[in-house]
Amino acid sequence: MSLDTLTDLFVHELRDVLDAEKQIIKALPKMAKTAATEELKAAFEEHLEVTEKQVERLERIFQELGKPARAKKCLAMTGLMEEGSELMKEDADEQVMDAALIGAAQKVEHYEIAAYGTLATYAKQLGMEDAAALLEETLEEEKAADVKLSELADQINAEAQDVEDE
Ligand SMILES: [Fe+2]
Ligand SMILES: [Fe+2]
Repeated sequence: MSLDTLTDLFVHELRDVLDAEKQIIKALPKMAKTAATEELKAAFEEHLEVTEKQVERLERIFQELGKPARAKKCLAMTGLMEEGSELMKEDADEQVMDAALIGAAQKVEHYEIAAYGTLATYAKQLGMEDAAALLEETLEEEKAADVKLSELADQINAEAQDVEDE
């Protein structure tokens, strides 16, 4: 697909983030299962539901554009997911693993925040107000997920540090 117009770039990036979300949907159940702290497990499970809605929003935008909702492999997310699964294979203390999961999840959220921020800006520039509103809704959810993870990190990192004193 050639990128001749801003609309082409918009569609290109929508396809990238659609794939990213699908990769996240596959990974979150494993992350929830690996997490030892109940609140962290619950946060991953909740974000899975949120993510499924985000995919629906993307599908609505493709529909509005009259384009098939075809994903294009997001190599950045593949890399982040590979790092996460490597981490989960480590023989780790439970609390330290939870701290590691939060770090990995926040890298994912920050990628999504960048992607949706860019997409919302393109949508506005293209005069696609409905699409922009949908993208901003998702952007706010990703930011909220990041804040929630930071809050959990405050508690869990301290517990991970306590492992040293045991
Ligand atoms: Fe997402
Ligand atoms: Fe997310």
